[in-house]
Amino acid sequence: MEFDFDLTTIFPTDIVKIGLDMLPVNLDRTATHYKNLSLIQQRISHVVDSMGNASARAQDLKQAITSASKVRAHSGEHTVYLLIDRVAEHGLGSVVGLLKVGKKNLFLMDRQGMQNEVYSMCILDFYVHESRQRSGCGRALFEYMLKDQEMGPQFMAIDRPSPKLLAFLAKYYDLSNPIPQVNNYVIFDGFFNNNNKEC
Ligand code: ACO
Repeated sequence: MEFDFDLTTIFPTDIVKIGLDMLPVNLDRTATHYKNLSLIQQRISHVVDSMGNASARAQDLKQAITSASKVRAHSGEHTVYLLIDRVAEHGLGSVVGLLKVGKKNLFLMDRQGMQNEVYSMCILDFYVHESRQRSGCGRALFEYMLKDQEMGPQFMAIDRPSPKLLAFLAKYYDLSNPIPQVNNYVIFDGFFNNNNKEC
């Protein structure tokens, strides 16, 4: 997705984690060309909103799951990662993907049908631009998030995964045969083995 401003000056790396303040966490705030931080925040908010809307369209949702205001409202519990192509658009860059994760309090059943209350890391929104799907971009973004969160995908709950995401998880992480739930979340075997203890 292209924008009418230079993305390479506001996103210092190919994959960026966006902070609650709508700035990349690895932005060198002392660099002279980053003087106008409020303009950068405004532009990144616009990028997050636009990608959130595109993700909602791709999933046939009436409302976007991701927006700058929703990230702020969850005061640090939700994290957005963006994948940038820094050489596209004649060097202005384009935004290729968005991934939002965050902690949620959930009631989830184990394979035996026992209900557990957990405060779990969740995959909340995941989108790669239509022009770049099935070319490894989603995997690059997802792997970055896993390293950053220091967590295996089997320990995460996935909010209403699309058929494409289910195929993605089966292909790369051997996650299939979900444990049935009464809510929209999907979990796999191994979910309760690690950090997802009862609250
Ligand atoms: N049909 C079936 N499987 C697909 C498709 C598709 N159209 N697109 C991606 N996949 C799966 C397959 O396993 C595919 O491997 P294959 O091509 O060998 O069959 C694999 O993903 C490709 O991996 P990547 O190229 O790394 O993934 P991609 O860059 O396409 O990103 C994503 C995956 C984010 C699911 C992307 O396809 C997308 O944005 N889809 C539309 C929006 C969406 O469904 N998002 C998930 C919503 S649910 C949630 O966010 C919690």
